[in-house]
Amino acid sequence: CRLVVLISGSGSNLQAIIDAQSAGQLPIEICAVISNREGVLGLERAAQAGIATRVLNHKSYESREAFDGALSAQIDAFEPDLVVLAGFMRILTAEFTNHYLGKMINIHPSLLPKYQGLHTHQRALEAGDAEHGVSVHFVTAELDGGPVISQARVPVLSSDTADTLAARVLEQEHLLYPRVIGWFAQGRLSMKDGKAFLDGEV
Ligand code: GRF
Repeated sequence: CRLVVLISGSGSNLQAIIDAQSAGQLPIEICAVISNREGVLGLERAAQAGIATRVLNHKSYESREAFDGALSAQIDAFEPDLVVLAGFMRILTAEFTNHYLGKMINIHPSLLPKYQGLHTHQRALEAGDAEHGVSVHFVTAELDGGPVISQARVPVLSSDTADTLAARVLEQEHLLYPRVIGWFAQGRLSMKDGKAFLDGEV
């Protein structure tokens, strides 16, 4: 299974995928890592692992459409089976998301449908939630609104700040994302009629 991973920052989820692949736990090849920001740690992680990197600065493009067009041309040059958004902080056009429908997944640090968008940990704290977590979902035109594939939960502690809660969630992200990518690589995961399907036992 050929993957292209899109990042904007530290790339700790990318690292978890690289590590699972190097440990022989994932039947995947990471063909490229593409970032919309130069100089981010995730690009160093990719280079360290011998993975091709590309930078496409969104500020160099006149419109969202122009950026997304250039981005999909870069992605498609690698002929991926799966596009993995791992901390990629750009809103995508419907044309872009439709082009990869059923072939693009995202990780979002909340128990969707709760807290789509930003500042999820702070919002969970302010709401007084007893539980918080992370979701992996297929990407559709609706931001953080595509069908959820799998979630992991963590408790919210009374001593938590947004940072301590984020760290607890991030540990789960690093377990969940490689697991879901493994399902896709095994051909067990698909999207039909706007719903996610997983064959067999989880
Ligand atoms: C993660 O919390 C992810 O859920 C969110 O952005 C963060 C990316 O972290 N979408 P990293 O770049 O993988 O370290």
